[in-house]
Amino acid sequence: MAKTLDLGCGSVPKNPFNADEFYGIDIREDLQNNIRQADLAIEPIPFENELFDFVTAYDFIEHIPRIAYIPHQRNCFVELMNEVYRVLKNDGYFLSCTPAFPRAEAFQDPTHVNIITKRTFPCYFGWRSRWASMYGFNGAFLVIMQEWHGQHLLTIMKKVDVRKAYDAAYAREATIELKAKLRKGNIDLLKKNLAFICVAFQKMPFSASFNCFFNVGGVLYNTLKTEY
Ligand SMILES: C[S@@+](CC[C@H](N)C(=O)[O-])C[C@H]1O[C@@H](n2cnc3c(N)ncnc32)[C@H](O)[C@@H]1O
Repeated sequence: MAKTLDLGCGSVPKNPFNADEFYGIDIREDLQNNIRQADLAIEPIPFENELFDFVTAYDFIEHIPRIAYIPHQRNCFVELMNEVYRVLKNDGYFLSCTPAFPRAEAFQDPTHVNIITKRTFPCYFGWRSRWASMYGFNGAFLVIMQEWHGQHLLTIMKKVDVRKAYDAAYAREATIELKAKLRKGNIDLLKKNLAFICVAFQKMPFSASFNCFFNVGGVLYNTLKTEY
């Protein structure tokens, strides 16, 4: 039973990988059953360790402050990435879709405080460098893909064993294994997502949310084209 968690989900958690169970978290108060309330800038993700196959964040990461000073200095964004790592199963996936540098839309919203560039995730949270470890990051991710979709930078990363983060042989194996998985699993995933997108298209007005669903489908399609 695959489980997915959508951070900053608003009123409807997204489930782009078609997991069997889906949950959401938001700071809002008008939340439904499968959505828990938390301020993810300062509070932990309210779920146990290694529970989720997928964690997603659509138009959310840019709202998390990088640093807070009261009551003491904290690296909020790094702490949140530790939390994402903690609640993901080994080999679980994190998907972020955020307006990013150098697009003007990344800056124009006055509530955007965390401007991501194409190098933020690979350099600071990627297994090769883990630059955020100097700020308290205790995980490691393998970046699977990054693509621009208009103003949004879509990033998909896989949780990897931090004890082996610097082990080149392990990384090589993980990459080979991942490529094999993509080849084997992508057709099914693509079919499921396209079916989901079609239903969403019929039911939803044109919106940023729909764009994101559509974009994920597009990415999978592109990956499939590349892999075969
Ligand atoms: C731009 S909306 C995106 C909503 C949804 N993900 C979507 O794609 O339609 C940002 C969401 O993040 C939530 N949010 C902002 N700051 C938050 C925080 N510190 N903790 C939890 N949720 C937060 C907001 O309440 C809002 O629902």
